[in-house]
Amino acid sequence: MHKKGFIFDLDGVIVDTAKYHFLAWKKLANSIGVDFSEVQNEQLKGVSRVRSLEKILAWGNKTLSEDEFMKLMGLKNDDYLSYINKMDASEILPDVSKTLDFLIEKKQAIALGSASKNATPILQKVNLFHKFQAIVDGNDVSKAKPDPEVFLIGAKLLDLKPEDCIVFEDSVAGVQAANVANMISIGIGEKDVLREADYIFKDFTEMSPAFLEGLISGTVKKNNKENNLSINN
Ligand code: BG6
Ligand code: MG
Repeated sequence: MHKKGFIFDLDGVIVDTAKYHFLAWKKLANSIGVDFSEVQNEQLKGVSRVRSLEKILAWGNKTLSEDEFMKLMGLKNDDYLSYINKMDASEILPDVSKTLDFLIEKKQAIALGSASKNATPILQKVNLFHKFQAIVDGNDVSKAKPDPEVFLIGAKLLDLKPEDCIVFEDSVAGVQAANVANMISIGIGEKDVLREADYIFKDFTEMSPAFLEGLISGTVKKNNKENNLSINN
C-alpha cells in the first residue's frame, strides 16, 4: 500500500480568510493614519502577523514602541477573530472537503501546515478539524515560510519522509518552502504567480481523481510537468 503525507496550507487553500485579514489590517492601518489597499493585502499572504505589521508600518513610514506594536497586534487579531467567529462550513473553498474525503478514503496521512496562530479555531469553525492527523501552525514554528520548518515538522508528525509528502499552497513563500523541503509543491491559484510550483491548479475543482491517485502511487513526481499534462488532459 502506498502512503503519502498531504500537507495543506490553511488561508487561501482551505478557506478564503484573506478578505477578513484585509478588513482587520485596513481598520488598524487607517486608525494610525496609514493607507492600506487590496494590492498591499496580496503581499501579506503567507506572511506572519508580526511581519505583516512591520510591512504596514514601513509602507506608512511609521515607527512604534514595542508596547504600541504589541497592542496593535492584539487589536488587529481581536478584530480578525470577530470575523472568524462567524465562519461556518459554507466558507470551505470548492472541492476541498471532497479532496480531503478522497484522501481519507485512500488511507492517506493528512496534516495542516499554516503560518496562522488561529488555525485550530478556524478549522473547528468550519468543522474540518477532525480530518487532520497533525496540525502545525504559527504557534509551533520559529522560522516563517519560505523556511521549510513548518512542513518538515508536519512530515515528522506524520512519521513520513519529506520526499513522501505533498504540499498544497497558495503563496509563493509556501511553494518555495515546500520545494526546499523536497516535497511535491502544488500551487493553488494563478499560474503566473505560482510558477515555482511543481503543479498548479486554479482550485481543487480542477484536480482530477487520477491526479490524486498518481500522487499516492508515485507516478506523479516532483517537477514532472509532462506527467501533469498527460494526467490532466
Ligand atoms: C497566513 C496568512 O496563513 O497566516 C497571513 O496568509 C497571516 O495573511 C498569517 O498574516 C498569520 O495569521 P494569524 O491568524 O496568526 O494572524
Ligand atoms: Mg495561504
